[in-house]
Amino acid sequence: LGLLGLTREQLFEAYKTAAELGVETFSLHTMVASNELNPEYFVETARLLFQLVTEIHTKTGVRISEVNLGGGIGIPYRPDQTAVSLAELGKKIHLAYKELITEAGAGPVRVVMECGRVVTGPYGWLVSRVLHKKAIYKDYVGLDACMANLMRPGMYGAYHHISVPGKESSPQKVYDVTGSLCENNDKFAIDRKIPDPEIGDLVVIHDTGAHGHAMGFNYNGKLRSAEVLWSGPGKWRQIRRAETYADLFATLDYPGLSRS
Ligand SMILES: Cc1ncc(COP(=O)(O)O)c(C=O)c1O
Repeated sequence: LGLLGLTREQLFEAYKTAAELGVETFSLHTMVASNELNPEYFVETARLLFQLVTEIHTKTGVRISEVNLGGGIGIPYRPDQTAVSLAELGKKIHLAYKELITEAGAGPVRVVMECGRVVTGPYGWLVSRVLHKKAIYKDYVGLDACMANLMRPGMYGAYHHISVPGKESSPQKVYDVTGSLCENNDKFAIDRKIPDPEIGDLVVIHDTGAHGHAMGFNYNGKLRSAEVLWSGPGKWRQIRRAETYADLFATLDYPGLSRS
């Protein structure tokens, strides 16, 4: 992360200075990358930090009591990708801990992660309805959702799988799946083969539990949708109502303007 962090050399100086200023509890914290599916990178990162615990102690006298490996564990957005096995990852980090902390006499060190995407991402779906179909130079399916509900595809071309419930074995066709904002990048998918939907069909955009609603916005007067929690077969509960225009104008304070 460009905004945060220190170079390796700066690290020793920073701990020394902090200790001189009276700091007594020290943690070592990193954030490698986001959406990484190769577990070996997290093991390598753990090894790097565990080695630094001893090096920092030798060079500065500071004892690190916590190592924070950051977040970054990826999720399989595409059907051909595989989820990271957290159990396997845990075992490998544990082995690294034994070798580099326990056997080096540098412990005990608390080891934590602060994962975001892997905890919520796969468990959210953006459910939208087909409003339009259009065939010009390309074939388009227009949804009632837009990048105000999920900005990842429009912002950096991220892949989100799309399915059409009830049409899993219908013939497929290549579409650009667009949102309802008047912005050229408001597309959930470009040249994507999906089951051919009809106007009025529901379309499900997968893996929107992270960077979906939370990154939503109100540009162009778009209102954020309701959120529904599924907690088992047949158990649905609305946990957030849809926004209204009264919500949108609630913070506006202008003489004579009615908010109702
Ligand atoms: C410092 C830090 N920790 C944790 C996270 C969460 O990352 P992720 O959602 O990829 O697990 C981020 C995200 O950028 C971060 O910057």
